[in-house]
Amino acid sequence: MDTKAKGVLVFLVIATMASGRESKTMLVGDSEGWSAGTNYTQWAIQNKPFHINDTLVFKYPAPDNSTAPMSVYLLPNMWSYTTCEFKEAKLLGSTTEGAGEGFKVKLKQRKPYYFASAEGNSYDCIAGLTKFIAVPSPRSLTHNHFSHKPSLLN
Ligand SMILES: *[C@@H]1O[C@H](CO)[C@@H](O)[C@H](O)[C@H]1NC(C)=O
Ligand SMILES: *[C@@H]1O[C@H](CO)[C@@H](O)[C@H](O)[C@H]1NC(C)=O
Ligand SMILES: *[C@@H]1O[C@H](CO)[C@@H](O)[C@H](O)[C@H]1NC(C)=O
Repeated sequence: MDTKAKGVLVFLVIATMASGRESKTMLVGDSEGWSAGTNYTQWAIQNKPFHINDTLVFKYPAPDNSTAPMSVYLLPNMWSYTTCEFKEAKLLGSTTEGAGEGFKVKLKQRKPYYFASAEGNSYDCIAGLTKFIAVPSPRSLTHNHFSHKPSLLN
């Protein structure tokens, strides 16, 4: 194969990877998992863009005397996320559901997903910790489309 043909092939492979990218499965917090008093905004910034049908895995130990209890709620909007008002929130994972392999949340819709733990009287949430926003984008948009909106992640 000559150099030009190789170049075309490389281009095609990259183009295919970019357009037909497999949905990702991401462990929230990487090896640290979902833990109390942690800034996940940083993690969300490093791991975006999120795409529709990507899966987030939340993993945290069942509460015992040595670990703080953890949970995962989906908050309905930016206001409840900011003020840590859990009244209308949907419980995705109770304090025991993050054990073992954890549980999965698929980002099916094109909307912001507001995640937060409510344990300890929402202490972490109010402090801006153990919470983040994931905004899945359709695959056809370029990655830069959403990377210009870091304010959504605060
Ligand atoms: C997401 O997955 C569903 C079910 O597998 C599929 O019908 C839908 O087309 C997918 N959406 C995108 C944007 O890939
Ligand atoms: C937690 O503490 C209680 C009371 O101090 C004790 O009875 C129990 O065995 C402890 N549990 C674990 C898992 O260490
Ligand atoms: C978390 O990290 C983000 C991004 O670095 C930063 O803007 C934010 O102030 C941090 N929040 C807290 C509560 O430390």
